[in-house]
Amino acid sequence: MTVKTVLVTGGAGYIGTHTMVELLTSGYDVVCLDNFSNSSPEAVKRVEKIAGKRVTSVTGDVRDREVMSRVFKRPIDGVIHFAALKAVGESVAKPTDYYGNNVGGSLALLEAMNERKVRRIVFSSSATVYGVPETLPLSEDAPVRPINPYGHTKAMVEQILRDWCAADLTCTAIVLRYFNPIGAHPSGTIGEDPHDVPNNLFPFIAQVAIGKRDKLTIWGGDWETPDGTGVRDYLHVVDLARGHVDALRYGFENTGYRNINLGTGQGTSVLQMVAAFERAASKKISFAIGPRRAGDVAACWADGSSAQQLLGWRAAMSVEQACVDGWRWQQQNPDGYRGQRTAG
Ligand SMILES: NC(=O)c1ccc[n+]([C@@H]2O[C@H](COP(=O)([O-])OP(=O)(O)OC[C@H]3O[C@@H](n4cnc5c(N)ncnc54)[C@H](O)[C@@H]3O)[C@@H](O)[C@H]2O)c1
Repeated sequence: MTVKTVLVTGGAGYIGTHTMVELLTSGYDVVCLDNFSNSSPEAVKRVEKIAGKRVTSVTGDVRDREVMSRVFKRPIDGVIHFAALKAVGESVAKPTDYYGNNVGGSLALLEAMNERKVRRIVFSSSATVYGVPETLPLSEDAPVRPINPYGHTKAMVEQILRDWCAADLTCTAIVLRYFNPIGAHPSGTIGEDPHDVPNNLFPFIAQVAIGKRDKLTIWGGDWETPDGTGVRDYLHVVDLARGHVDALRYGFENTGYRNINLGTGQGTSVLQMVAAFERAASKKISFAIGPRRAGDVAACWADGSSAQQLLGWRAAMSVEQACVDGWRWQQQNPDGYRGQRTAG
């Protein structure tokens, strides 16, 4: 069997690095394209070290035509498109940056793929496209009603991919709607490396545990949930990464457009997450209950049956495991990739 080559845009980022490890260890060759706006070349080196294989790393922007034509000079069998901006709050403040990068970047990528007749793409979408859930669990046929510019960029790219597949029946787009990825690779050498104040709960807790932040603020303690704090569907990033390998394989065997949720199907509250991290780190996490944040929802978790039926994928790792692995990454890399403690 010939080895397939996968272009991974945004491959140096949090989910991209974990996915590149799984691709390399599953026998794919990988080309990583990243502008390092939210990541570090060191992350790619560490991927190579874990997998024991080389990555072809290209520094550049998906919106740069010259870079894209260079990338597509080599034969590419399929693309996994992670490159995007992802902070909900920032998207409200800087919508044009978000539409430009996330929608404009996806269009530039599709144009380059069209030119070289590359017809397989796996796209990073988000449960954010559902907005405020009417019923739980959320299945893929729930209405798409994003409530912020970031969510709109994802919904728009989904529509573009739907039309792209309708125009050419040999094309495949697998749109993965992620729930809440957490944790890190069990080696402790790659993980989430927020440059500013973390937007997400998990890296914030990890930074409190390591002493970088005094305490966690929990946004609302009066939600309609068993303990009053928000409930989300947290999945281990390695499970999520494996979902991409399964989606890619499915994409090589099938044509057309598909939305697929990737989540565990189980909700965990903020207080449950704090307790799980405390057990993993053997430390107390200080927290205070603050007001609710505009745009937040009480609870959100996935109906993961499509992933199981179509991809044969289901989450195998627990929240506890994610806390153990995330804590290992945090301890070994207190300053993320900038510290380069475990580069070796
Ligand atoms: N992390 C989450 O909680 C989450 C949840 C749902 C969906 N997603 C989506 O998954 C994808 C990956 O998320 P992540 O958490 O790994 O984010 P990340 O910021 O760690 O990774 C994104 C990578 O893309 C690169 N990038 C951004 N714009 C680029 C451009 N124009 N050209 C080239 N490279 C560019 C960044 O430098 C970074 O390495 C994103 O599309 C994000 O919207 C993430």
